[in-house]
Amino acid sequence: MGMSLLLHKKTKPIIGILTFITMFAVVHSSSGHAEENVETIYQKNCATCHGENLSGGMADSFLNDEWLKDGTADSLAYYIKKGASTRGMPSWEGTLTEDQIRSLVIYIKEQRYTLLREAKKPDNKSKTITSLGHTFNIGTIHTAESILWAVEYLPDGSMLVTQRDGELLNISADGKSSVKIKDFPEVWHHVQGGLLDITLHPDYANNGWIYVAYAATKDGKKGATKIARGKLKDGRWVEHQDIFEAPDSAYSGSGRHFGSRIVFSEGYVYFGFGERGDRETAQNMTTSNGKIFRLHDDGRVPKDNPFVNYENALPGIWSLGHRNPQGMVVEPNTNRIWEAEHGPRGGDEINIIKRGANYGWPVITYGMNYDGTPITHLTEKDGMQQPKHYWVPSIAVAGITFYDGNMFTKWKGKMLAGGMGVQELQLLSTNEEMIDKVDVILSDRGRIRDVSVAPDGAIMLVVTIDGKGHILRLSI
Ligand code: HEC
Repeated sequence: MGMSLLLHKKTKPIIGILTFITMFAVVHSSSGHAEENVETIYQKNCATCHGENLSGGMADSFLNDEWLKDGTADSLAYYIKKGASTRGMPSWEGTLTEDQIRSLVIYIKEQRYTLLREAKKPDNKSKTITSLGHTFNIGTIHTAESILWAVEYLPDGSMLVTQRDGELLNISADGKSSVKIKDFPEVWHHVQGGLLDITLHPDYANNGWIYVAYAATKDGKKGATKIARGKLKDGRWVEHQDIFEAPDSAYSGSGRHFGSRIVFSEGYVYFGFGERGDRETAQNMTTSNGKIFRLHDDGRVPKDNPFVNYENALPGIWSLGHRNPQGMVVEPNTNRIWEAEHGPRGGDEINIIKRGANYGWPVITYGMNYDGTPITHLTEKDGMQQPKHYWVPSIAVAGITFYDGNMFTKWKGKMLAGGMGVQELQLLSTNEEMIDKVDVILSDRGRIRDVSVAPDGAIMLVVTIDGKGHILRLSI
């Protein structure tokens, strides 16, 4: 399944087209995992000295904070490659490939995080928590019939909540009553696909438009994520309009990587799709999977979109090379769009989305395959963006938002990120261009799918516990 894609500009080539083409002319193969997985490589070659569970033995433990240099991924890779002969660490560069060495670095980081976290045994029962400068209450205000995805706040104080199996719910602010919206379109509920994000138009007060992302099917076998809008009238969904219909090439039977989040910025609507488990499509401009789009609020393509003049490129594309966008938020004041995406094992990312940029999947990644075989040792490449942060291990990052309320004053302007896999709510501090600090606010309260700030400043989490959606409220 090699992929080669040349973009042809509709008009005569202009200067710069060559560098542009090389950005995309990347052929990547990731087939055949006859390879040993990283666990086996570690246990066979490293465990005798470093311990089966990293706790050391003949060599020092990987679980303390003592490092030969600084414990960064680069320095770990360096010592695995070159060894530290005076200390008794062999060099592995002749024996292991660069890809395998990269996966060992991910493995050491991942195991260290997981083992240290388990040793801490977080308190997941208490109704009052003190964390990072705030003491707050945490309580479940609503439990649904099945998995919930996203929350949006209506001017009357109630919430619109998406249930992945296709129900749109109107839930009272206190969580006590829930009504199903009638006449909502049919949704294809298929593994990770279903009814996903919901967002109000910035001018909702005047026009009443509500935007939704959901998986749709034509034949019951294959589906793709669609973006639509509609209005609410007497508890019914009315005036439905499709805003973005995926091309046939995006339809897939896969149950994975549907995306999606919807945000508005400076009059445009932005939304992203996952690559449905077919990696190479993230670099293929003829299909919508693995891309972020930018459209006018009624679905028209803006004339100044980056790829409108390229043959075979979908004109709505704003950026490419995404694996599975699961969080998107516009930063207050700067209007920058931050995106969180599920990477492979050890490769979840946060990006700032720029016009026409390529985010690199699957050509570059900080992660490896879930079975512990390498994808590539390439973590960067010319013409491809670097993430603003990546997580090892992957936290299965989902919803992100900037805290802009008045309740948790010490967290104002910082980013909240929910993790499904690690079940953590994290607080990310951003500087100009990077995430420069990551702290854990709380853990073990369920798989956090969505994080939002209620009108009163409370932090609301949509979590999954035992296949059911819950809405948790954090308040002071
Ligand atoms: C013969 C014993 C031995 C084996 C086998 C061995 N190591 Fe080491 N390793 C050491 C010693 C000794 C050091 C030096 C520092 C110490 O005492 O921890 C070290 C250092 C390291 C460091 C640098 C850590 C730091 O403090 O920055 C890394 C990373 C590392 N080893 C990874 C591996 C990996 C991965 C393997 C298997 C592919 C491996 N080692 C196999 C003995 C060993």
